[in-house]
Amino acid sequence: MIYSEKVMDHFNNPRNVGVISDADGSGEVGNPVCGDIMKITIKVNDDDTIADAKFQTLGCGAAIATSSMVTELVKGKKIQDAVRISKRDVADELDGLPAAKMHCSVLATDGLKVAVDDYLKKHGREPLSGVIKSADPNYNPHEDEDEEED
Ligand code: FES
Repeated sequence: MIYSEKVMDHFNNPRNVGVISDADGSGEVGNPVCGDIMKITIKVNDDDTIADAKFQTLGCGAAIATSSMVTELVKGKKIQDAVRISKRDVADELDGLPAAKMHCSVLATDGLKVAVDDYLKKHGREPLSGVIKSADPNYNPHEDEDEEED
Protein backbone atom coordinates (compact mmCIF):
# COMPACT_ATOMS: atom_id res chain seq x y z
CA MET A 1 0.00 0.00 0.00
CA ILE A 2 1.25 3.47 -0.79
CA TYR A 3 0.66 6.57 1.30
CA SER A 4 -2.55 8.51 0.82
CA GLU A 5 -2.45 12.01 -0.62
CA LYS A 6 -3.28 13.40 2.81
CA VAL A 7 -0.31 11.62 4.40
CA MET A 8 1.97 12.98 1.68
CA ASP A 9 0.53 16.47 2.16
CA HIS A 10 1.13 16.44 5.94
CA PHE A 11 4.58 14.93 5.39
CA ASN A 12 5.59 17.54 2.80
CA ASN A 13 3.88 20.47 4.54
CA PRO A 14 3.70 19.53 8.21
CA ARG A 15 1.45 21.87 10.24
CA ASN A 16 2.48 23.35 13.57
CA VAL A 17 6.16 22.41 13.56
CA GLY A 18 8.18 23.85 16.43
CA VAL A 19 8.04 24.39 20.17
CA ILE A 20 5.73 26.73 22.10
CA SER A 21 8.14 28.65 24.32
CA ASP A 22 5.65 29.42 27.12
CA ALA A 23 3.86 26.08 26.83
CA ASP A 24 1.46 24.91 29.54
CA GLY A 25 2.36 21.28 28.95
CA SER A 26 4.95 19.31 27.06
CA GLY A 27 5.39 15.66 26.27
CA GLU A 28 8.25 13.71 24.78
CA VAL A 29 7.89 10.07 23.83
CA GLY A 30 9.95 7.48 22.02
CA ASN A 31 8.68 4.71 19.79
CA PRO A 32 9.86 1.39 21.24
CA VAL A 33 9.69 -0.27 17.82
CA CYS A 34 12.05 1.99 15.89
CA GLY A 35 13.54 4.41 18.43
CA ASP A 36 12.05 7.50 16.81
CA ILE A 37 11.09 10.39 19.09
CA MET A 38 8.46 13.09 19.18
CA LYS A 39 7.99 16.18 21.31
CA ILE A 40 4.74 18.10 21.58
CA THR A 41 4.00 21.33 23.43
CA ILE A 42 0.53 22.67 24.14
CA LYS A 43 -1.09 25.91 25.24
CA VAL A 44 -4.25 25.38 27.31
CA ASN A 45 -6.96 27.95 28.17
CA ASP A 46 -8.48 28.26 31.65
CA ASP A 47 -11.47 26.22 30.51
CA ASP A 48 -9.20 23.28 29.54
CA THR A 49 -9.45 23.98 25.81
CA ILE A 50 -6.26 23.45 23.83
CA ALA A 51 -5.47 26.80 22.24
CA ASP A 52 -2.32 25.77 20.40
CA ALA A 53 -0.11 22.73 19.80
CA LYS A 54 3.27 22.33 18.14
CA PHE A 55 5.47 19.33 17.51
CA GLN A 56 8.95 18.22 16.63
CA THR A 57 9.39 14.70 15.35
CA LEU A 58 12.58 12.86 14.64
CA GLY A 59 11.09 10.00 12.76
CA CYS A 60 9.70 8.57 9.58
CA GLY A 61 7.25 10.19 7.20
CA ALA A 62 4.26 8.52 8.84
CA ALA A 63 5.36 9.81 12.26
CA ILE A 64 5.64 13.34 10.90
CA ALA A 65 2.28 13.16 9.12
CA THR A 66 0.48 11.76 12.19
CA SER A 67 2.11 14.32 14.50
CA SER A 68 1.05 17.10 12.16
CA MET A 69 -2.51 15.75 12.04
CA VAL A 70 -2.73 15.39 15.83
CA THR A 71 -1.72 19.02 16.39
CA GLU A 72 -4.45 20.05 13.94
CA LEU A 73 -7.09 17.78 15.51
CA VAL A 74 -6.55 18.86 19.12
CA LYS A 75 -6.73 22.61 18.61
CA GLY A 76 -10.01 23.89 20.06
CA LYS A 77 -10.70 20.58 21.79
CA LYS A 78 -11.07 20.10 25.54
CA ILE A 79 -8.15 18.16 26.99
CA GLN A 80 -10.61 15.45 28.09
CA ASP A 81 -11.63 14.89 24.47
CA ALA A 82 -8.15 15.35 23.03
CA VAL A 83 -6.67 12.46 25.02
CA ARG A 84 -9.37 10.16 23.63
CA ILE A 85 -8.10 10.59 20.08
CA SER A 86 -6.76 7.17 19.12
CA LYS A 87 -4.10 6.22 16.64
CA ARG A 88 -6.97 4.78 14.58
CA ASP A 89 -8.74 8.17 14.54
CA VAL A 90 -5.53 9.83 13.35
CA ALA A 91 -4.98 7.24 10.63
CA ASP A 92 -8.60 7.62 9.51
CA GLU A 93 -8.21 11.40 9.28
CA LEU A 94 -5.21 10.79 7.02
CA ASP A 95 -7.26 8.46 4.81
CA GLY A 96 -5.40 5.45 6.17
CA LEU A 97 -1.86 4.33 6.89
CA PRO A 98 -0.13 1.19 5.66
CA ALA A 99 -0.45 -1.54 8.32
CA ALA A 100 3.30 -1.65 8.83
CA LYS A 101 3.20 2.06 9.67
CA MET A 102 0.34 2.03 12.20
CA HIS A 103 2.80 1.85 15.09
CA CYS A 104 4.19 5.22 13.99
CA SER A 105 0.95 6.95 14.94
CA VAL A 106 1.30 6.01 18.65
CA LEU A 107 4.07 8.59 18.92
CA ALA A 108 1.70 11.47 18.26
CA THR A 109 -1.22 10.27 20.39
CA ASP A 110 1.01 9.23 23.29
CA GLY A 111 3.00 12.45 23.13
CA LEU A 112 -0.21 14.42 23.41
CA LYS A 113 -1.31 12.42 26.49
CA VAL A 114 2.02 13.07 28.19
CA ALA A 115 1.69 16.79 27.43
CA VAL A 116 -1.85 16.92 28.85
CA ASP A 117 -0.77 15.08 31.99
CA ASP A 118 2.16 17.48 32.31
CA TYR A 119 -0.28 20.40 32.17
CA LEU A 120 -2.53 18.80 34.80
CA LYS A 121 0.41 17.99 37.06
CA LYS A 122 1.58 21.60 36.93
CA HIS A 123 -1.85 22.60 38.20
CA GLY A 124 -1.91 19.97 40.96
CA ARG A 125 -4.58 17.94 39.17
CA GLU A 126 -4.89 14.20 38.62
CA PRO A 127 -3.57 12.83 35.30
CA LEU A 128 -6.20 11.93 32.71
CA SER A 129 -4.63 9.37 30.50
CA GLY A 130 -3.36 6.71 32.88
CA VAL A 131 -0.49 4.57 31.75
CA ILE A 132 1.05 5.61 28.47
CA LYS A 133 1.42 2.41 26.53
CA SER A 134 4.68 3.20 24.80
CA ALA A 135 6.30 3.95 28.17
CA ASP A 136 5.62 0.34 29.13
CA PRO A 137 8.62 -1.84 28.20
CA ASN A 138 6.33 -4.82 27.62
CA TYR A 139 4.07 -2.97 25.25
CA ASN A 140 4.12 -4.23 21.70
CA PRO A 141 2.46 -1.76 19.33
CA HIS A 142 2.00 -4.50 16.78
CA GLU A 143 -0.35 -6.42 19.08
CA ASP A 144 -3.31 -4.15 18.50
CA GLU A 145 -2.85 -3.76 14.79
CA ASP A 146 -5.84 -5.19 13.05
CA GLU A 147 -5.32 -4.08 9.48
CA GLU A 148 -4.89 -6.37 6.58
CA GLU A 149 -1.50 -6.24 4.98
CA ASP A 150 -1.86 -5.38 1.35
FE1 FES B 1 9.65 5.13 13.63
FE2 FES B 1 7.67 5.38 11.95
S1 FES B 1 9.39 4.07 11.72
S2 FES B 1 7.88 6.26 13.90
